[in-house]
Amino acid sequence: MTKKIIGIILLLIIAGFGYQMFHYQWSNLDYAPEQPIPFSHKLHAGDRNIPCMYCHTNVERSRHATIPSMNICMNCHSVVNVDSTSIIKLTEAYNSGKPLEWQRIHKVPEHAYFSHKWHIRKGFDCAVCHGPVETMDRVYQYRKLNMGDCIQCHRENEAPTSCNTCHQ
Ligand code: HEC
Ligand code: HEC
Ligand code: HEC
Ligand code: HEC
Ligand code: HEC
Repeated sequence: MTKKIIGIILLLIIAGFGYQMFHYQWSNLDYAPEQPIPFSHKLHAGDRNIPCMYCHTNVERSRHATIPSMNICMNCHSVVNVDSTSIIKLTEAYNSGKPLEWQRIHKVPEHAYFSHKWHIRKGFDCAVCHGPVETMDRVYQYRKLNMGDCIQCHRENEAPTSCNTCHQ
């Protein structure tokens, strides 16, 4: 009897680990790595109302939205908050020409193809896929954006769903 119970508990533990691995490997939901300096979207895109595309300049015309280079930051931070520790670190990186190593949050694997361009042209707001970024002090992954998620939205919008749409 006790053997049986121990067996069941062991099985549950293994299933639990399996689920965790599955969850992180396949969805990355809520993933929010620490960044080299605590850049806040809430402060910049929320409180200060800086448009997303002021920094993510390529999002309408290319595959990647791109992370802004430091000269975009320096447009303001050569004068704004120059005494704060984070801005001193930013300025030093800028002057040395060694870019800050921002940690990637969203990533579609090599074998699948995604491009911002079509989706933005179609009229989707950033928030459809990235959530309320303007309220986030640290960006986290809001939506799965895995194959099932991509295909479901394609079905709902009568976009193509054949395998070679996303896999060459
Ligand atoms: C002042 C510049 C600036 C503005 C404005 C800005 N961003 Fe960003 N964004 C960044 C920087 C720098 C990073 C990289 C650091 C980080 O992840 O916080 C980033 C990262 C991101 C990421 C995560 C990228 C990844 O690694 O997967 C998303 C999503 C994003 N921004 C969306 C938005 C949206 C949506 C808006 C408008 C509501 C916006 N951003 C406005 C500078 C900006
Ligand atoms: C249809 C869903 C969708 C919409 C709409 C969308 N994104 Fe993304 N975004 C993604 C996916 C998927 C990735 C990962 C792309 C990759 O790995 O190539 C991503 C990655 C990013 C990144 C990381 C750098 C890059 O380009 O790979 C940034 C920054 C970003 N998005 C900003 C934005 C902004 C700003 C908007 C609105 C103007 C926006 N996104 C709209 C799905 C979306
Ligand atoms: C359009 C102007 C503008 C741009 C561009 C801009 N910022 Fe800012 N940033 C501000 C303002 C304004 C504040 C807030 C000042 C305050 O309220 O204390 C701020 C605050 C900050 C802070 C907090 C500073 C502290 O006191 O600790 C950091 C960190 C920061 N910005 C990093 C960045 C980075 C990195 C970039 C480029 C990706 C960037 N900013 C681009 C205007 C800007
Ligand atoms: C919010 C809904 C939505 C999500 C989420 C979404 N898509 Fe799309 N996607 C669309 C729509 C609608 C179109 C058709 C755009 C058009 O008609 O130009 C499209 C077009 C595309 C195209 C171009 C198809 C073609 O040949 O015209 C590719 C490739 C693509 N999406 C890949 C992806 C991938 C990969 C993901 C997940 C990471 C994804 N999409 C997530 C709605 C979405
Ligand atoms: C709308 C875009 C889209 C379509 C259509 C699509 N896929 Fe995918 N697929 C993806 C994305 C994004 C990933 C990576 C994320 C993931 O694994 O869920 C992926 C991952 C995969 C993987 C790798 C899973 C793994 O174990 O690593 C295989 C295999 C695959 N797709 C096969 C297919 C086949 C077969 C079809 C047609 C029936 C198809 N895909 C249609 C977007 C798509």
